[in-house]
Amino acid sequence: TSPVTLPQLLQARREGRRLTMLTCYDAGFARAIDAAGVDMVLVGDSLGMVVQGHDSTLPVTVDDIAYHTACVARGLHRAFLLADLPFQADASTSSALEASTRLLRAGAAMVKIEGAGFKLDVIRHLVEREIPVCAHLGLTPQSVLRLGGYRVQGRGDEAAQRLLDDARAVEAAGASVLVLECVPWALAQRITEAVSIPTIGIGAGAACTGQVLVLHDMLGLRHGRQPRFVKDFLAAGGSVSGAFEAYVREVREGTFPAPEHGY
Ligand code: KIV
Ligand code: NA
Repeated sequence: TSPVTLPQLLQARREGRRLTMLTCYDAGFARAIDAAGVDMVLVGDSLGMVVQGHDSTLPVTVDDIAYHTACVARGLHRAFLLADLPFQADASTSSALEASTRLLRAGAAMVKIEGAGFKLDVIRHLVEREIPVCAHLGLTPQSVLRLGGYRVQGRGDEAAQRLLDDARAVEAAGASVLVLECVPWALAQRITEAVSIPTIGIGAGAACTGQVLVLHDMLGLRHGRQPRFVKDFLAAGGSVSGAFEAYVREVREGTFPAPEHGY
């Protein structure tokens, strides 16, 4: 099996094939996720919460993401590897270029950036310099201080229109994948229809091109309240490898997420 490439991800979107993504932070889990046929692996800044034990993603540094990206990269043979630009690494075009270059050198094939607004310039700056970018809209956890918590975004006509406009804008700026987090099912569907890049949903319903879950969540390891979009695939799959295989199967056949996992 040859490695998944960016053109293949774009082709999957054109052909209506569903894509699977999981977060991962180390080589051991990376090997198992890769073997199960998961298409994309994200070294998310969620590591601040699930690995480091913080209560937000804000303390995560570029050093942290680079370290875990290198660990995960050693475990992958096939899956496409993305890495998050952590809080403020994308505050300027130059810091974003420097951080992204480190993450690509550590083995990532794409970096993920939360938000639109001035981040559109950052996306353009990176893409023009041959760094593929994944945008991330909806609930953007790096905005937690402004938002005051983690909740569904894009409710109401005005907020929905803003998200739709942002989605078109990140695509126009050059993003080649779009993560949608915690947005109503119907809005995620409208956004997916409005753009031609793959959309990867988490708490965004089954109309997206693909799905992503946080590794710890989908293995039933959860500290505190379980968001409704999470499913315990360890319970469903019977083993760690079985959990990854069940996730791939259910996303591909469109049975996960079910309506009860959405907003
Ligand atoms: O950091 C992360 O795990 C993420 C995913 C939830 C998309 O950004
Ligand atoms: Na993240």
